Formats: sequence, C-alpha cells, structure tokens
Amino acid sequence: MIIPGKKVELFCGTGGVGKTTIATARALSLALQGKNVLLITVDPAKRLKQILKIEDNDDGAINTITLDLFSHDINKSFDAMLMSPRATLQRMAKEKNLHSEFDSTIIKTLSRPYGGMNEIMSIIEVQVQLEKNIYDTIILDTPPGKHFIDFLESSEKIKNFFDKSFLEIFEYLGKSITSGGKARSFITMIVSTGVKKLLSYLEAVTGADFVREFIDAVLALYKCRDSFLTALKFQDELKKESYSNWFLVTSVEQQKMSEAQDLKVQAEHFMHKDHFLVMNKCLGAFLNDWQVGPNKTLAHLKESMTRREDDLQDFASKNFSNVLKFQEINHPSPLEHVRQLSQMFLEQNKP
Ligand SMILES: Nc1ncnc2c1ncn2[C@@H]1O[C@H](COP(=O)(O)OP(=O)(O)OP(=O)(O)O)[C@@H](O)[C@H]1O
Ligand SMILES: [Mg+2]
Repeated sequence: MIIPGKKVELFCGTGGVGKTTIATARALSLALQGKNVLLITVDPAKRLKQILKIEDNDDGAINTITLDLFSHDINKSFDAMLMSPRATLQRMAKEKNLHSEFDSTIIKTLSRPYGGMNEIMSIIEVQVQLEKNIYDTIILDTPPGKHFIDFLESSEKIKNFFDKSFLEIFEYLGKSITSGGKARSFITMIVSTGVKKLLSYLEAVTGADFVREFIDAVLALYKCRDSFLTALKFQDELKKESYSNWFLVTSVEQQKMSEAQDLKVQAEHFMHKDHFLVMNKCLGAFLNDWQVGPNKTLAHLKESMTRREDDLQDFASKNFSNVLKFQEINHPSPLEHVRQLSQMFLEQNKP
C-alpha cells in the first residue's frame, strides 16, 4: 500500500501501543528517502529523548538526529523536538514584547507539561514550524488516548476562550489597566461574572495580589490571541486529505484494538476518512516460522494464537479501510525497533 507524503502526519493511539516508536520509524524512513523531516513529540512523558538520546532542557530546541544513530552509513538526518509549552509561550511573548507579563507564576504553572496548555501550544508550535517552510513533512507523536482527544479539541477550546463575552470582559479590563484604573474596578467586574465564587475564594485565601496576577496573566494571553486564533486554521487543514496523514496506532490485542475503535469514533469529527490503522507488534512471521514438532500442546497453542491474530486482522479490515501491519521485533533495543520498523515502512510503500 502506497503511503503518500503529506505536509503533516499525526500518530495517535492509546497508551503503550508504540506511537512514539512508529512515529520515529516513519521519520527515519522519510529521511532515508531524502525528505526534510521534523518529528515533534507532544507526549509529556517524552520517551523520544531516551530513544534518540537527546538532552531535555525544556527549551523546545530542534535537535538534528544523524542517521548513523541507526547504523546507516549515509550523510542524512532528521530533526526532532520535545514539545515544551513553556518555550513556545516564551517565544510568543518575546515576539509581542510581553516578557514580564509571561513571567507570572500563573502562566508558568499553566505552561508546565501537565498544566493544561500543552495541547494548545503544540498546535501553535506546529504552525510556526510549518511557516518556516523548510520541512517536507512534520510528524507529530501525540499524547495517548484521552489527551489526544484534548489535543484535537484544543482549538475549539481556544475559540470558546476568546468568544464574545470574554472579549468584552478583556477589552474592559484592558481599558481599566491602560487608563491607570484601580485594581478594584476590574476585580469587581470579574466578580460580577461567572467566576465570582472562584475569585473571591482565591482572593480570601491568597490575597489580592494573586487575583491581580491572575488578571495580568489572562490579559497577557489575550494580547497573544492572534497566535491562538491562527491555530484554529490548522485544525481545518488537518481535515484535508491532501494535507495530512493520520495514523491510528494499535497493538494486536483485543483490548487495544477495541480502544482504537473507540478512539476512531471519538476523533471522527477531526480525522479524514483516508486514515491508516497501524497494527503494531503482529506475530505473523513468528507464528509461521514456529516449528512446534510433534508436541500437541504447542501445536494447539500455535493454532489458537494464529486464529486469534487472524480474527483481529479481520476485525481491522472490516472497520478500517487502510490497514498497515508491523511485526513484533524480537530485540531489546528501542533503537533497533525504530530501525527495523522504518524498513517495514519502506516495504509497505512498495506498490
Ligand atoms: N513492533 C515492535 N516490536 C517490539 N517492540 C516494540 C514495537 N513497537 C514498539 N515497541 C516497544 O514497545 C514499547 C512502547 O513503545 P512506545 O513508547 O513507542 O509506545 P507509545 O504508544 O508511544 O507509549 P505512550 O502511550 O506511553 O506514549 C517500547 O519499549 C518500544 O520499543
Ligand atoms: Mg509515546
């Protein structure tokens, strides 16, 4: 099955099925074909740094991975980045001259890997990298399951965040601040809206400084709204078959396959219908080569394992139009997994 090259490729799936490994293998296979590739991992667990042996200074830096890491004797490479919401936010702040505002404790807390902004900032980061126009393909290794859905829904959240009512409040707040209005007046304004309870509680517990900082943080984000709103366009692009490849990764287990099916249903609004199901860790080749001899128990085991895998493959081809199969690799090193899986990508791509 030919996998056409696209501007953006997303690898998603539930926990531990091999998303990061397969996404890295895809980056390697494209680099071997001479493409300029950037691999971004959105996964806060950042397993990529172990696989690719990159240092993590939480600086969102681009690392060049030369292919000799995978024992390829050719002068080629691909780029890899560990998504850092903080680094993306800092760069945004710099562009808008908002340095001090973004130093607030609240923004620092929000932009921690699990602070809730990871998904939104990732979309902005991809957009920034795409605009550089130096990559043929940007590959995204997304966080597992539920976080992946959050990732997809994040641009809708942005839209809601900056919806009309918030805009009005922020504009009002902006005026009070720039005209040197007293803190009291906009706190009163916020208190009269839906967040009254929360803020009055916070004010009592932490003192007015905290509330002031909160408002500054909200305003700073508001001043960057253009970057957030541009990220919305990206969501529409992803829905275009001409623009993106979606790979829904699963391992060949009953539980994981039905989780993949659930994820497909949840992601249906976002994912175009030309997506691929990646069946990872297939045992087919082992089972074929397995010489069980006259031992009946082993023969029975082989037969039932083969039947189980056949059933799961049937399930896959009934529910997904494009199925890619990747073999289980019997080797302890994750680098070797990536190396061999990249070869499988190259073989899959043969007509
Ligand atoms: N085809 C394969 N054969 C053997 N081992 C594999 C294969 N694919 C992945 N692995 C191994 O499975 C483990 C989990 O893989 P990986 O970290 O890529 O999963 P993940 O889906 O990204 O996990 P998470 O949900 O935690 O992000 C790793 O040790 C990896 O090397
Ligand atoms: Mg991963």
